[in-house]
Amino acid sequence: MNETYEVIPSAKRLIKSLRDIGYDFSTAVADLIDNSIEAGASKVDIDVAFYGNDSYVRISDNGNGMKSENLKEAMRYGSERDYLEEDLGRFGLGLKTASMSQCQYFSVASRSKENKQIAVFSWDLSHIERTNKWEILQPKEKDIPELLKTPISEHSGTVVLWEKLDRIIGFKNSEGEAARNKVISMCRELENYLSMVFHKFLSNEVLGKSLEIYLNRNKIQPWDPFGRHESKTNILSPIKIKIIHNGAENKIFLQPYILPTKEEFSSQDSFQKLSGISGWNPQQGFYIYRANRMIQSGGWCGLRVIDEHTKLARIELNFSPALDDLFKINVAKMKVQLPVQAREEIERVVKPIVSLARERYDHEKKNLFKPSAPKVTEIQQTSPINKNILIKNSSQDIKFDLFTLNEVEQKVKEFATKYESKTISDVFSRLRRRLFGR
Ligand SMILES: Nc1ncnc2c1ncn2[C@@H]1O[C@H](COP(=O)(O)OP(=O)(O)O)[C@@H](O)[C@H]1O
Ligand SMILES: [Mg+2]
Repeated sequence: MNETYEVIPSAKRLIKSLRDIGYDFSTAVADLIDNSIEAGASKVDIDVAFYGNDSYVRISDNGNGMKSENLKEAMRYGSERDYLEEDLGRFGLGLKTASMSQCQYFSVASRSKENKQIAVFSWDLSHIERTNKWEILQPKEKDIPELLKTPISEHSGTVVLWEKLDRIIGFKNSEGEAARNKVISMCRELENYLSMVFHKFLSNEVLGKSLEIYLNRNKIQPWDPFGRHESKTNILSPIKIKIIHNGAENKIFLQPYILPTKEEFSSQDSFQKLSGISGWNPQQGFYIYRANRMIQSGGWCGLRVIDEHTKLARIELNFSPALDDLFKINVAKMKVQLPVQAREEIERVVKPIVSLARERYDHEKKNLFKPSAPKVTEIQQTSPINKNILIKNSSQDIKFDLFTLNEVEQKVKEFATKYESKTISDVFSRLRRRLFGR
C-alpha cells in the first residue's frame, strides 16, 4: 500500500481561476434560473440596480428553498447530491461559479417550506484572498440586509444577491454614464437571452414546470424560434435517433421545421422577430435542448455551413441529461457537441430537411411558387398547432415541393376524370380521418 497525502487545492488560486470558466452575464443568470426551476419555482424576479460601486443584481425565486444545513452544502464548490434524470443541475458548481464569474461577493438567503427561519451564507473573494481558505461567511441575524429577506418574507424561496460587480461594472469610473449604459445594454441582452433559452417554460409547454420571469418588474415573453404561431410554418415529422450509452438505450428527438419565406410571413414584424438574437442566417440549424432548456440556438454543429439558401431550416434537437457525457456539455451550459456515434445518422436525416428549406427559399427568390402536381410518395404528419401538411417526393431526381393536403387533393383532381374524382375525394376523406381524426 502506497503512502497517501491529501493535497488540498489553493482556495485563492482555484476560486479565482474558476471565475473564467466561460460564463457571461446572461448565461450566469440563466444558470441560477435552472436552479430555481429545479426547486419548483413558478416565479423568478431579477433586479438589476445601478448605484455605481453599490450596484447589485438580485435573483429571487419562490421555490422550495433550503434549510440552513442544505444551504451550507449548496455553497460548497462541487456540492453533493443525487440527480434525477430530468434535473437541470449537473456539476454542483453552477451557483458558485456563475455568481463569482460576475461579482466578488455573493450571498444566498433561503427559506424552506418547513422552516420559516431564513438562512444566509456568503462567499467573499477578499476573505479568500486573505485567508486562502475555503470559508463561507454567515452574517449575524441583525446584519442580514433587507434586500435578502424581503423577497422571501411571505413564502419559501431562495434569493441570490451579487455585490461588488467588478465584472459587470468595473471599479474605474463606476458611477459614469458609460457604466450605466453598459448595464442597460446587458439587461437588454439578458432579456433576449432568457426569452429564448427558457421559452418552453415561459409558454407553459413543460408539464408541471410553468414559469414567469420578471426583469426589473417587466415580464419576459417567450421567443419561439420555430414560428409555430405562423400558419405557413411547416412542421415536419419528428425523428427519433436511438443511442446506446452506458449499456442503456436512450433517444435523441429531432423536430424539424421549415419557416415561411419573408413574403409568406403574416407580417414583417413577425418576420423580424423570428430573426432572433443573431439574425436570420446564423439562426438556421439546430436548436439543442437539454431537459427542455435551450443550450444552443442555431448553427449546424460542424455538419454544414451557414448558407443564405438554407436559412429557413430550423431543427429542434432534444436530449436528456443522461446523455450529458456524449454531448460534452460544458459547465456554463452554453455549448454541446453532437455525439460521434449519432453524427452520421443526424447528417443523413438532416439532408432532405435542408433540401426542402432550400426549395422553399428558391421558390420565393424566383417568384415561381406555382407547384406542379407532385408524386405523393410519403405523407408526413403535422403537429396540432399547424394543420399544414408536407407531401414529400422521396426519389432523389424529383424536386421537393410543399403543399397542404387540400392543395394536393385539388391538384390531383385536375388530372382526374369525373369518375376518378369521386374516388379521390373518398381516399382523401379517409386520409384526413386517419391523420386528424375528422
Ligand atoms: N434557487 C435554489 N433553490 C433551492 N435549492 C437551490 C437553489 N439554488 C441552488 N440550490 C441547491 O444548491 C445545489 C447546488 O447548486 P449548483 O451549484 O447550481 O449545482 P447543481 O445545480 O449542479 O447541483 C443544488 O443542487 C440545489 O440543491
Ligand atoms: Mg445549478
